Amino acid sequence: MDLGLAGARVVVTGASRGIGRAIAEAFAAEGADLAVCARSPEPLREAADALRSAGAAVVEQALDVADARSLRAFVDRAAAELGGVDVLVSNVSGGSAATPDQWERGFGTDVMPFVRLAEYAEPHLAASARGGSIVLISSTSALHAAAPPSGPKAYGAVKAALNHHAAALGRTLPAKGIRVNTVSPGPIEFEGGGWARRRENDPGFYEDVRARIPYGRLGRPEEVARAVVFLASPAAAYVTGANLVVDGGFVDRV
Ligand SMILES: NC(=O)c1ccc[n+]([C@@H]2O[C@H](COP(=O)([O-])OP(=O)(O)OC[C@H]3O[C@@H](n4cnc5c(N)ncnc54)[C@H](OP(=O)(O)O)[C@@H]3O)[C@@H](O)[C@H]2O)c1
Repeated sequence: MDLGLAGARVVVTGASRGIGRAIAEAFAAEGADLAVCARSPEPLREAADALRSAGAAVVEQALDVADARSLRAFVDRAAAELGGVDVLVSNVSGGSAATPDQWERGFGTDVMPFVRLAEYAEPHLAASARGGSIVLISSTSALHAAAPPSGPKAYGAVKAALNHHAAALGRTLPAKGIRVNTVSPGPIEFEGGGWARRRENDPGFYEDVRARIPYGRLGRPEEVARAVVFLASPAAAYVTGANLVVDGGFVDRV
């Protein structure tokens, strides 16, 4: 199926590795152009060069999404250099570590960046001739509250707050021609990622989680990326306010 994304202008945060990088690569494979960011310049440059090799025009910017001014400048630069913005993918998370500052960190690196990104991108997305689209990367951690091994963490609650805001935007922004959807991955494994580390350092926990996934294995970044690209595309033109779970059956909610 032609997803109709050739020439689309796509902003992806946290695109130097893992799920965000796979999302950027999947859009590039559809013929889209990209603006990508992450904190560390070197891995970002490597990821951006790979996208260029795939034929995409690429704007890259090293920044911390918690810095509101840098984030706005990135969105505006993306719109100026790509000629507009059709798709925004908010992918960065502060992570799930049970550190003392985890609640504030979740607010600073997850909640406010998504709130701000949607606000900063809105005029550009509303001007999109294709119709604008926002996709939030959330997590199945927002959808269940099984006792975590090291006690309650902010991660799931922060993601649940994000889900709520995305659902509200998904019902507000269609009036401006913008759809807003969420993709909720279950455990996703890739080299250098959290689950690859857990497989090495805590094999008992890894195996316990793997055994709870009906599909029999953890997911792959490109499996999440394909769901994101579909939701962002004209093929999903009537879909807004949805939460697409990509988890191999991990979460047994109805
Ligand atoms: N992996 C999973 O099992 C899983 C499961 C469910 C949901 N998710 C969600 O999927 C998303 C991506 O996860 P992932 O596992 O691919 O993450 P990851 O390995 O931590 O990669 C995150 C990306 O974001 C960048 N980044 C991190 N903090 C940033 C900040 N403050 N400002 C700018 N860039 C930042 C990283 O580069 P730098 O470090 O250089 O900044 C990297 O490019 C997250 O929202 C996560 O919650 C992941």
